[in-house]
Amino acid sequence: MQSSNFLLLLLFAALMILHRCDARRSTIDGSSKLVDNGETLVSAGENFEMGFFSDDDGLNKYVGIWYYKLSPRTVVWVANWNNSIQGKRIMNEDNSVVVEDGNLKVISNGYTYFSTRLGSGSNRKVELLDTGNLVLVDESGVEMWQSFRNPTDTFLPGMKMDRSLNLIDSKNENYTFQLDQSSDKEYVIILPKQGKILWKGSAKLGKLSFGEMPRYVAYMLSNFTNKDVVDNSLESIGTFNKYRLLMNSSGEIQFYGWDKEINGWSLMWSAPNDTCDLYKYCGKFSICNSKREPVCKCLPGYKLNPPDNSKAGDFSGGCSRMSVSSCNEDNVEVLDTFLDLRSMKFKSPNKIISNNSTREDCRRFCLGNCTCQAYTYNDSVCWIWDTSLMPLQENYAGGFNISVRVSISDIEATRRNCKPCGINLIPYPLSSGPNCGDPLYYSFSCDDLAGQVSFHTSNGKYTVVNFDKDNKTFVIEAAHKESVGTCDDKGPVTGISWFNQSSPFKVINWCYNPEENLTSGPFSRGKDLILISWKPPLEPFCKTSEDCNDWPNSSCNMTKQGERRCICQTDYKWNGLILNCSSSSELGTQGSFITKLASSRNQRTLVISISVVLGVITLCSISYIIYQNTRVTRSREARDIVLGNHMEHFPRRESFGEDLITADEKRRIDVPFFSLNSILLATDNFSNAAKLGQGGFGPVYKAQKFSQASRLLC
Ligand SMILES: *[C@@H]1O[C@H](CO)[C@@H](O)[C@H](O)[C@H]1NC(C)=O
Ligand SMILES: *[C@@H]1O[C@H](CO)[C@@H](O)[C@H](O)[C@H]1NC(C)=O
Ligand SMILES: *[C@@H]1O[C@H](CO)[C@@H](O)[C@H](O)[C@H]1NC(C)=O
Ligand SMILES: *[C@@H]1O[C@H](CO)[C@@H](O)[C@H](O)[C@H]1NC(C)=O
Ligand SMILES: *[C@@H]1O[C@H](CO)[C@@H](O)[C@H](O)[C@H]1NC(C)=O
Ligand SMILES: *[C@@H]1O[C@H](CO)[C@@H](O)[C@H](O)[C@H]1NC(C)=O
Ligand SMILES: *[C@@H]1O[C@H](CO)[C@@H](O)[C@H](O)[C@H]1NC(C)=O
Ligand SMILES: *[C@@H]1O[C@H](CO)[C@@H](O)[C@H](O)[C@H]1NC(C)=O
Ligand SMILES: *[C@@H]1O[C@H](CO)[C@@H](O)[C@H](O)[C@H]1NC(C)=O
Ligand SMILES: *[C@@H]1O[C@H](CO)[C@@H](O)[C@H](O)[C@H]1NC(C)=O
Ligand SMILES: *[C@@H]1O[C@H](CO)[C@@H](O)[C@H](O)[C@H]1NC(C)=O
Repeated sequence: MQSSNFLLLLLFAALMILHRCDARRSTIDGSSKLVDNGETLVSAGENFEMGFFSDDDGLNKYVGIWYYKLSPRTVVWVANWNNSIQGKRIMNEDNSVVVEDGNLKVISNGYTYFSTRLGSGSNRKVELLDTGNLVLVDESGVEMWQSFRNPTDTFLPGMKMDRSLNLIDSKNENYTFQLDQSSDKEYVIILPKQGKILWKGSAKLGKLSFGEMPRYVAYMLSNFTNKDVVDNSLESIGTFNKYRLLMNSSGEIQFYGWDKEINGWSLMWSAPNDTCDLYKYCGKFSICNSKREPVCKCLPGYKLNPPDNSKAGDFSGGCSRMSVSSCNEDNVEVLDTFLDLRSMKFKSPNKIISNNSTREDCRRFCLGNCTCQAYTYNDSVCWIWDTSLMPLQENYAGGFNISVRVSISDIEATRRNCKPCGINLIPYPLSSGPNCGDPLYYSFSCDDLAGQVSFHTSNGKYTVVNFDKDNKTFVIEAAHKESVGTCDDKGPVTGISWFNQSSPFKVINWCYNPEENLTSGPFSRGKDLILISWKPPLEPFCKTSEDCNDWPNSSCNMTKQGERRCICQTDYKWNGLILNCSSSSELGTQGSFITKLASSRNQRTLVISISVVLGVITLCSISYIIYQNTRVTRSREARDIVLGNHMEHFPRRESFGEDLITADEKRRIDVPFFSLNSILLATDNFSNAAKLGQGGFGPVYKAQKFSQASRLLC
């Protein structure tokens, strides 16, 4: 009796399952509907499923399409995305999907939450296809409507992005992704409420195009028809078998592939991915670098436009040339030149001038034509920009060189200013060469190829990310490879400072973080930024009176210390803060060096003053003694294996002076980054020699070298 009951139960269960299987269908027509009782449509090949689902809160009901049996449920289309059915997660047979008057509708209690809104017709049916497309066809099979032409936030293979299609972030309706209406090649993310473009990009099309979007995405967007962007790379990635493009609710367009190996979605691309990716974030003739604060910067020889912008740091107006020569094709050679910039990303040039020319031809053509703003020459092709050069993006992997027109007078290297290095203006008194700036500040070098400035310390050199002339600061980057040297406000280890007392440089922030308050985003840097300040300089050194032409109201004269400097004329006093001879009446706190010497009660100044007065001989003897001390200390320290190991890695300079920066270093094939930890270990060595610093004279590069140099001098 019991066993027959059991058999009956089994039979019943089997019938139920069979019934379920029978019930599985992919179509709805006028006589059948889909009710909110757990029933779904499943495409014939079991790729996609359609039915009712609740949102995360469980308060709203929607009708949508998702991948069949894929966990987590990934919804790719929603019928009533902007008109949800209120109600708890529980099933409710009042909710249904029907084909009524020839339209697909989502209805509940007599209210229509979604309709395809076609003219009425009979014998129509909808079918969920294996592509994920839901199609409404009439009795003769003619397609009347399809979800692929009415997407929500997801683009699936088989759809085609044309001018009438857009993806909308269905959560907030803050963002849409669509084809740029003025160009069939570019795609945009738009803020529809503000009518603003957030991002614009395309696949790499021509030689000087950058490809903000991978070709496989562009290829998929064209429904695999655009021959310009044919791409087989997706097919070659065997572990992916599903793809989708999503306009997400934080404004990013994301491309996902389903990875069979990890059994999950893998984010293959997303945009915007960086502050500089944002559409026109910086204006014309400016350079964008998201690692820098400020992010936008005018090119050397260019000024912010308009100069007195009410909103500080507003770069939307871009930059323009400081002095625009009255361009005239006869004299242009003497007035204008080009800034040669490396590894830049830019908007494609508007003109190809010649195909089969030389670089020099290209340069001469651009220089000789006043409408030419910039050129780039690559593989015998000369490209020209006649229009404003839109923002450039610095240090762009796969970027190109570009030469931008500038007035010679605005960038010329003078006795006073060193030549710009790439896009960096090296402000006086900082120096990157023996014949410019102030020799005391000659701690920089320029890698012309990369357009990058390096700052030299006893431990090696560090890339300078930014100079701030007004604040007298600059930022360098150091890799944080070792956990010991993690960024710490006080510097890695207390009691050890990077520079000795006489150094004009001082670390003011070991963990400078300009991005703290910038747009958040996945901008990981993997490097520590260090903020360094420099002291105002004394009167500039000079050899001849011409050297002082850059310093009005001064003349080249011998100081009491036997140095030739541009000494301010009577009634003027040197002001190191504004780098000028100020008339006595407007003199600020920063008096002339000589005046200071006489009047200062400041102890440190006094120490400096005394040592200067004592002159080179005293200095030399002190140096020599300390050098000897240092050697003793160093040999003691050499026993410290850790320090010994670290010291091995630090480049040493064996000579001093003009060849401080060797040709080899200028080439800078591979700049090593040093962790704060190693800097520390090394600066220990440096700080032992710091006693030297009280001389108030002498270079800052390397204590050890300083002593050697002093020895040489004596
Ligand atoms: C929802 O969006 C569709 C298509 O954009 C629109 O036609 C419809 O009026 C919207 N419904 C509501 C309730 O906003
Ligand atoms: C995309 O291409 C497929 C295959 O060629 C075609 O059947 C389909 O209709 C196309 N989709 C659209 C929206 O044009
Ligand atoms: C996006 O939408 C939400 C809700 O509508 C709103 O609060 C938010 O400010 C919007 N964000 C943007 C960037 O427009
Ligand atoms: C949108 O995409 C970005 C980048 O992929 C991601 O960081 C962010 O969390 C996403 N937002 C949402 C709401 O999923
Ligand atoms: C963001 O950009 C960086 C550098 O351009 C790239 O390495 C990274 O893969 C990008 N991330 C995504 C999700 O596209
Ligand atoms: C330059 O000329 C060569 C040969 O005439 C041609 O193959 C190439 O496509 C041209 N390049 C451009 C950018 O016009
Ligand atoms: C300079 O360029 C403009 C625009 O490309 C062109 O119309 C003009 O003929 C050029 N002038 C010379 C002297 O080549
Ligand atoms: C010229 O273009 C190629 C790639 O198209 C690039 O690798 C090369 O660096 C470019 N040369 C210059 C000088 O920009
Ligand atoms: C640097 O200068 C800017 C104005 O030019 C000022 O707002 C900022 O506070 C200064 N920063 C420091 C660290 O002095
Ligand atoms: C960033 O913002 C916070 C508060 O919004 C402020 O306390 C902090 O000083 C800011 N940091 C910088 C570097 O401006
Ligand atoms: C140079 O200094 C001497 C004495 O200090 C002074 O008499 C002379 O006028 C100075 N020369 C110039 C050109 O200022």
